[in-house]
Amino acid sequence: MFNMNHEQELRKRRTFAIISHPDAGKTTITEKMLFFGNAIRASGTIKGRGGGTYAKSDWMNIEKERGISVTTSVMQFTYKNILINLLDTPGHQDFSEDTYRILTAVDCCVVVIDAAKGVEERTKKLIDVTRIHNTPIITFINKLDRDSREPIEILDEIEQKLELSCVPITWPISCGKNFKGVYHIHDKIMYLYKNKDLKKHFFLDLKEFSNSSNAFLNDYIGIDLSKQIYEELELIINIYSKFNNKSFLKRISTPIFFGSALGDLGIDHLLNSLIKWAPSPLHRKSNKRIVEPKEKNFTGFVFKIQANMDLKHRDRIAFMRIVSGQYTKGMKLKHVRTKKNMIVSDAFSFLAGDRLSIKKSYPGDIIGIHNHGTIKIGDTFTQGEDLKFIGIPSFAPEIFRSICLSNPLQQKQLIKGLIQLSEEGAIQVFRPINSNNLILGAIGILQFDVVIERLRIEYGINAVYKKVNIVLARWIRSNNNKSISDFIKKNSAYLGYDASNSLIYLAPNNANLTIVVNKYSDIFFDKMKDQ
Ligand code: G4P
Repeated sequence: MFNMNHEQELRKRRTFAIISHPDAGKTTITEKMLFFGNAIRASGTIKGRGGGTYAKSDWMNIEKERGISVTTSVMQFTYKNILINLLDTPGHQDFSEDTYRILTAVDCCVVVIDAAKGVEERTKKLIDVTRIHNTPIITFINKLDRDSREPIEILDEIEQKLELSCVPITWPISCGKNFKGVYHIHDKIMYLYKNKDLKKHFFLDLKEFSNSSNAFLNDYIGIDLSKQIYEELELIINIYSKFNNKSFLKRISTPIFFGSALGDLGIDHLLNSLIKWAPSPLHRKSNKRIVEPKEKNFTGFVFKIQANMDLKHRDRIAFMRIVSGQYTKGMKLKHVRTKKNMIVSDAFSFLAGDRLSIKKSYPGDIIGIHNHGTIKIGDTFTQGEDLKFIGIPSFAPEIFRSICLSNPLQQKQLIKGLIQLSEEGAIQVFRPINSNNLILGAIGILQFDVVIERLRIEYGINAVYKKVNIVLARWIRSNNNKSISDFIKKNSAYLGYDASNSLIYLAPNNANLTIVVNKYSDIFFDKMKDQ
């Protein structure tokens, strides 16, 4: 185990992601957090928003504003002496595979809910994914400055749809045009807007909060609203449990915050609790053992590869989450999959728009390293130990295409390009057993657009897609080798291999899949695979 200094470094780190249905306010909240962390000078600095139209992909925004993708992938900043690693997740659902992998690298998630809309479809899906790793969740209910649904109704929905029990930490004082501020139940402080333009607020210490009323409050927000708030708070404090750190860390409950990201209210409450309650860097499971952050030797895993972060250099950056030990500039690391050692002399961290070359990094940190086509998503790096981190998922694709070249002589380049793009997680590539046509698989249709565009720009290949008669894919597994070889013999027309040589069944329709699943009882048909 390691020394005091290392333990201090662990204690002062928090690594989390913000997740939400598009438009709930993730980007605005990220901006405010960066502002509080002095990482940007003014709100409005991050431009990579959907601009109101989500018809365009994040990738297209990225293509237009490449610098911004650097800013929004991983952000490191300090807030009240705590070093925060904030990981951005793509807003568009077509890139959800990327999001799922990013969620393996965090220790906590903030979920943002639009107060007028409640729990939306994508919020539910994302929360389901965070369940795989039992990640603790903090909830921020946003846009209280607009007409909203009843807060209790939203909490009911969170309890039912997200299966988390709610612990309100703050409570809104009305909403929409009448939004006056929030009451911090935990600290017994009321935060009230100074004027109607929702910019400045002040606080009112209500430690004496009781059944009675407060003269200043009666005067400031009106006696009727004040009475209503007192009644509402009494009810809330009685029906909901108090915050309990164990139940939050075990993901039984979620602390709830209300506010308005645009109206500058509530983000500091959220951040203050995050640095107090969210876990410092957690252990990770490997195929051999559990790796603790306190351990002396360096370990880490790659969860994302991003290409073209710097147009001039056409570079690919592998994002690695440090699990244990410490990174020091120039250290030798073992790339476990290839069994090769490499000297890492230029790892960097990210700070609102800039890459900073780093000398030292600790567990919980995300470091970027240059990838010259050798690093794949899911790869583990160690100081010699032969282990592989597990739990970085691949999901069975839902849409399929074959790809045709305008110039058939480019076949070799095409294969090289597709292999690299699949190693970055941009697309999945399958080689059918019975044919030479490569099949591409994706979760969202925009992934196909990105791949065609990148093949053209980065590899000089002009290709087009053709529809294929495949609607479902399942990875094939069995405890019995003979069963597998029999299965391959009888079903080769529907079988292929993925980029890491795992066998996959490519079904032309639901009925076909149901029949084989029923017929072969000792074969597993997996929807998800570890990278
Ligand atoms: P996202 O990243 O989750 O997709 O959401 P984003 O922050 O881009 O916010 C979506 C829209 O909601 C933006 O408006 C943003 O200004 C607005 N918004 C965010 N927080 C609040 C809030 O607390 N109150 C109100 N009233 N609006 C909020 P937009 O018109 O789509 O974009 P923009 O022109 O403002 O940039």
